[in-house]
Amino acid sequence: MKISVIGTGYVGLVTGACLAEIGHEVMCTDSDAAKIRTLEAGGVPIYEPGLDQVIAKARKENRLRFCANPADAVPAGDAIFICVGTPPLPNGDADLSAIDNVARMVASEATSPKLVIEKSTVPARTGQELKRALSVYTRRPGVTLRVASNPEFLREGTAVEDFLHPDRVVVGVEDETAERQLHDIYRPVLERQFNCPVHAGACPEGPAPQWLVTTINSAELIKHASNSFLALKVSYANMVSDLAERLGADIGEVTRAMGMDPRIGPSFLNAGLGFGGFCLPKDLQAFVRLAERCGVDFSMLKAAEKINKQRIDRFFDKVREALWVVRDKPVGVLGLAFKPNTDDVRFAPAIDLIRRLLEEGADVRAYDPQAMEKARAILPEVAYAPSAYDAAQGAEALVIATEWPEFRALDWEKMRARMRRPLVLDARNLLLPGEMRARGFEYRSFGRPDVVAEPQIA
Ligand code: UGA
Repeated sequence: MKISVIGTGYVGLVTGACLAEIGHEVMCTDSDAAKIRTLEAGGVPIYEPGLDQVIAKARKENRLRFCANPADAVPAGDAIFICVGTPPLPNGDADLSAIDNVARMVASEATSPKLVIEKSTVPARTGQELKRALSVYTRRPGVTLRVASNPEFLREGTAVEDFLHPDRVVVGVEDETAERQLHDIYRPVLERQFNCPVHAGACPEGPAPQWLVTTINSAELIKHASNSFLALKVSYANMVSDLAERLGADIGEVTRAMGMDPRIGPSFLNAGLGFGGFCLPKDLQAFVRLAERCGVDFSMLKAAEKINKQRIDRFFDKVREALWVVRDKPVGVLGLAFKPNTDDVRFAPAIDLIRRLLEEGADVRAYDPQAMEKARAILPEVAYAPSAYDAAQGAEALVIATEWPEFRALDWEKMRARMRRPLVLDARNLLLPGEMRARGFEYRSFGRPDVVAEPQIA
């Protein structure tokens, strides 16, 4: 099928590239001309494992094109995926102005029937507004413009795999034609009829993706309800972690056992600095606002948000307890991205943490395997180290702010030898207290026993 994708953020790029990968003819567009130039020159503006190969292959096979003028992309597709940003407004509402712009453009440029698919995360009832906007601005009343919602559940860092091997594909539609068109689009994924670029022909066995047809309102609600539930789960784990700390229990032991109950599940129970990124925090806020507008008291979501904001304070209690005075002390920070396997630093807890360290007068030297360039743009005052070992050099404390697996595999003897004081403050519970004790470190984390230095002077 001929498909246009409007918006080349991570959702738009992954969606466009993967749709081309499974055999469609895709045109991606963005109003940011510089981004399109980068893509046309073979660059990929984000770090997302496997995405560059998928894009390169699809371009070589002429199934993926980029175009700088969104208006030109409209006639090119029978289906149009809207993947533009819906950033938070100061009051927490999602800013839907980009969706509105796309609606006007599609309505005025469409000369043949189109299926207009909301992929951007939007509050429930946006589809109804989209339909209204399309009919108000259309120049050719005879041209049918159908609207559908197809929320994405892509996680940054594994987005290509998530697209090609989803557990469910949710489509919110109003008629059978839209459902059939979307089913045709996703058929290769649903029937696993594609050459998987992630697993090179050896995809793990597992249940086929569920095809879920709902109303548009339900599809929109599913997305916000899912992300908000994940946020709730993280905040819940963080509160249990605080309690474990006071009671002398171990949060790792507690959540491991909780997660074995299939009604709870093991994911999103990792205690630490809390959730960040461009999705969970903003979706939670937008969901709170939606509930308020509907007169529904969803205060448990507000509590989850408050708990999350307090994680940096909680961590700072540990920093002060360990370092006493922070001013002028060299502190190494490992991790800048909001989670591992991405270079995304938007709403990253690591960035808030560094800001706080700087406010307190620490001399910060940071390292991240992928996110240093993006971090430098927002925190130019920080020194960036070429490796984790360089970040540790002369440090009085080393903070782990993002749980990149490669930090676990560091030569910790070598790290200790480089530090002025062997103190690790693990804000992501990446390492094990017993192992750090054996390696001669002072070690503090969330919800687990601290490893503290014995006083040498009576
Ligand atoms: C999230 C959802 O997981 C996706 O399903 C959704 O499609 C996406 O948002 C979106 O709306 O586009 P993502 O933002 O990539 O995906 O990140 P997550 O994996 O959800 O992690 C979010 C944050 O929670 C990270 O900062 C992570 O470190 C934190 N987290 C996660 C924890 O603190 N503890 C956990 O146990 C899990």
